[in-house]
Amino acid sequence: MAEDSPEDETLILRHLSRVGYDVQHERVETPSSLRDALRRNWDIILSDFAIGPHFTAPDALEIAREAGSDTPFIVLSGTIGEEAAVQAMKGGANDYVLKGNLARLQTAIERELRDAAARQERRRMREQLVVSDRLASIGMLAASVAHEINNPLTALVANLEFLSDRLDGFAGDDDGELADGVRDAMSATNHLRRIVGDLGVLSRPSTAPRPEAATVDIENVLETATRMAWHEVRLRARLTKEFAGVPPVEGDESRLAQVFLNLLVNAAQAIEPGASEENEIRVSTSMDRAGRVVVGVSDTGSGMAPDVRDRIFDAFYTTKPSGVGTGLGLAICHRIVTSLGGAIDVQSAVGAGTTFRVLLWPTRPLEAAG
Ligand SMILES: Nc1ncnc2c1ncn2[C@@H]1O[C@H](COP(=O)(O)OP(=O)(O)OP(=O)(O)O)[C@@H](O)[C@H]1O
Ligand SMILES: [Mg+2]
Repeated sequence: MAEDSPEDETLILRHLSRVGYDVQHERVETPSSLRDALRRNWDIILSDFAIGPHFTAPDALEIAREAGSDTPFIVLSGTIGEEAAVQAMKGGANDYVLKGNLARLQTAIERELRDAAARQERRRMREQLVVSDRLASIGMLAASVAHEINNPLTALVANLEFLSDRLDGFAGDDDGELADGVRDAMSATNHLRRIVGDLGVLSRPSTAPRPEAATVDIENVLETATRMAWHEVRLRARLTKEFAGVPPVEGDESRLAQVFLNLLVNAAQAIEPGASEENEIRVSTSMDRAGRVVVGVSDTGSGMAPDVRDRIFDAFYTTKPSGVGTGLGLAICHRIVTSLGGAIDVQSAVGAGTTFRVLLWPTRPLEAAG
């Protein structure tokens, strides 16, 4: 409530409680106290027109919108001339009500709360669309890269095998140097093959009818994800794996690989490069008491303050410079995990690192026949 009169404050609160609202409020009368209050979440802002000698409703409105607040803003004034009212509405106020006609306030509040909820829902749907777009395009990109690399790779393997055969017993290679070279080339090529295979895992369309699609060896998926994240991790931390040999889970290999890849890249990005011996990223599997498979991804990185931690699963929330982060990684993780009936949670404190846990249900054992 942006209001300079304690009497009007009482009057308004009394009216609101009479019509059935249970109000928690804060009264502010300066720009700085308004900014302060806007750090918290409010359902509605009620503003006097002339809050103070140099502070009016349009000023308050500007401050609210600058702070990124989409909270409905209702001008509630004793005397508001036609012109002032128009000015306030033009500035983006949602409504104005005269203090002498408080009966109208309830209708205004109810309508504004409804509209705000609808706006919120539309925003959520838009975000979801973008998230699924990004999922689809990552998949398509990975699939086409994998496809393009596969053909030359096949030729490479065939030719190296041919060379290797010919070198067997080749007199010009009595110290075996040529054979060694070819062997190294073959092992590098096999490494490439694994990487391309991993890309395939990422991009396999999750809707493709695969009979085994519902059963995933999660530790296998973690091997793939850690291999793919290795170039991010290498210079920043040691990578430790602690696998308990957990049962297969219900899920989708390619989408789960995306989840853990996102978590591992985030973990790496939370650690400054250069002290890889002092830092650790730990990937573990275990079972919880409810019978769920628990995958832990911990890092010794920067950790998060509570206000950051509260928003990390929101689409587009990022603390990274643009170009580094889009803020979609965890929104995607959250969507994938919950769509599988699982859960994802986080523990973190500034300076104490971060642990994400992904909880998934094992595939139900088949009922014994008979
Ligand atoms: N392991 C972590 N340690 C510290 N902060 C983290 C960690 N994981 C996530 N965060 C915080 O959560 C924010 C959101 O993460 P998210 O993965 O959704 O987006 P991003 O990494 O910023 O961008 P994108 O993943 O789209 O490239 C990050 O910007 C960062 O502030
Ligand atoms: Mg990320």
